[in-house]
Amino acid sequence: MTASVAIRDLSISFGLAKVLPNVSFDVAPGECFGLVGESGSGKSTVLRCLSMLTDFWTGAITIDGRNLRDLPVKERCRMLQMVFQDPYGSLHPRQSVRTVLAEPLRIHGLDRREERMQQAMVDVGLPVDFLDRFPHQLSGGQRQRVAIARALILEPQLLLLDEPTSALDVSVQAEILNLLQRLRAERGFTYIMVTHDLAVVDHMCDRFAVMLHGEITEILPTSAIQGNGATHPYARELIGASLEYEGAGKASAA
Ligand SMILES: Nc1ncnc2c1ncn2[C@@H]1O[C@H](COP(=O)(O)OP(=O)(O)O)[C@@H](O)[C@H]1O
Ligand SMILES: [Mg+2]
Repeated sequence: MTASVAIRDLSISFGLAKVLPNVSFDVAPGECFGLVGESGSGKSTVLRCLSMLTDFWTGAITIDGRNLRDLPVKERCRMLQMVFQDPYGSLHPRQSVRTVLAEPLRIHGLDRREERMQQAMVDVGLPVDFLDRFPHQLSGGQRQRVAIARALILEPQLLLLDEPTSALDVSVQAEILNLLQRLRAERGFTYIMVTHDLAVVDHMCDRFAVMLHGEITEILPTSAIQGNGATHPYARELIGASLEYEGAGKASAA
């Protein structure tokens, strides 16, 4: 259950603003690929193009060799799912967890719905009786677990993760990252993960791209973070700042 992704010359403008001038990269099956860069550099836009939430891009995106634009909507939903930054905004306040999880199963006409919903809860580490809870009865971390369960319930091959932990308390962030890592190890998903935190890349990703003003400055293996193996000046600066910050944290903790 894993997919390769190839993005070629992905471009998009909003009005006169060319937000992604020309982005190309490949993600291997089962890889966790990070997208980092300052706020406004176009990271979320790349994911929104991939998920067709924004569909007026040009270029070519293939998933497992299939042209994204040729995939019927239902097939696309079963191929890829997205998890958003804000688990508060992404869940409807009046929908119980059961409703959230049942809807995609109903739309896609899947059988054994109760069993699938219960399994999804177990998979994300939530008690099965939380199916009857509403978002306001859940903590931020629990809500993000529900959002992940919703993404998993159609058994996709590719998960697009847009800063999935940055709205959460630091203590909860690690739990959610560990959950995502465990799921990938167990099921072999392909992840594309947006984050502004290089520590998250270090923990989760195999490779990562550094974006600046809608362009990829450099694609690096995660091992290039320690010792700063970047060559592009901006990528070097970003990694350097992160190492400095980490060093300062360690020094003050000592
Ligand atoms: N729907 C939109 N309409 C106009 N501009 C947008 C829209 N979505 C994103 N942008 C612009 O595109 C740029 C990249 O945004 P985004 O992809 O959200 O960046 P990031 O996720 O890296 O913070 C920003 O300058 C943002 O203002
Ligand atoms: Mg963003």
